[in-house]
Amino acid sequence: MMSAEGRQEMTAPAPAEGGEGKLSFREACPEDEMLLLSWTNDPETRKNSFNSGPVSPETHHVWFSRRLSDKNCVILIFFRGDEPAGQVRLECENDTARISYSVDREHRGKGYGKEMVSLAIGYALTGRPEIKAFRAEVKPDNIPSLRIFGSLGFTEVSSDDKNVCFILVKPEKLPK
Ligand SMILES: CC(C)(COP(=O)(O)OP(=O)(O)OC[C@H]1O[C@@H](n2cnc3c(N)ncnc32)[C@H](O)[C@@H]1OP(=O)(O)O)[C@@H](O)C(=O)NCCC(=O)NCCS
Repeated sequence: MMSAEGRQEMTAPAPAEGGEGKLSFREACPEDEMLLLSWTNDPETRKNSFNSGPVSPETHHVWFSRRLSDKNCVILIFFRGDEPAGQVRLECENDTARISYSVDREHRGKGYGKEMVSLAIGYALTGRPEIKAFRAEVKPDNIPSLRIFGSLGFTEVSSDDKNVCFILVKPEKLPK
């Protein structure tokens, strides 16, 4: 399900509590390159990233091409109707998937961030049974993201002035 081949359009299997329950998603494809670049260079996203400088189209092209062909990486694009609303990226290393995500600035504050992360975890649990845990790193002043991982049942495993690290060990059911 998560290989570079056979990427397919999917409808979210179950709306997460707290969102409006109207997001659908599919895996990213080459045509999403500029959409993802615009989200990457959103000022709030840069501020909340650990490498905070702007990303050039050339750097993004190389990065995105590698991610698309990496069987340990999946990027999900979420939609509200036909409108792109955000993305979640899962990068698997051994049995742990690292989560990165962002919501389009027009769609923030509506609960979509939480819904997207919940749906992405459900997608990974279905498609990659070898995944045993999910990991996320958040800057300490990124209050919405801290709230999202806390409310989805992640455990804060470490924290300093640069980084709060969360882990969710494979849940029996979809976190909501
Ligand atoms: C972080 C981000 C994904 C959150 O997505 P979102 O859809 O706007 O967040 P939600 O609407 O689901 O809100 C999450 C929680 O934060 C709260 N919140 C939202 N904005 C807030 C703010 N400015 N101050 C305090 N709390 C806030 C919400 O009330 C909600 O809390 P609740 O679940 O207890 O009600 C989004 O702001 C974003 O894309 N930011 C830039 C990229 C980024 O930071 N990515 C995450 C890197 S770890």
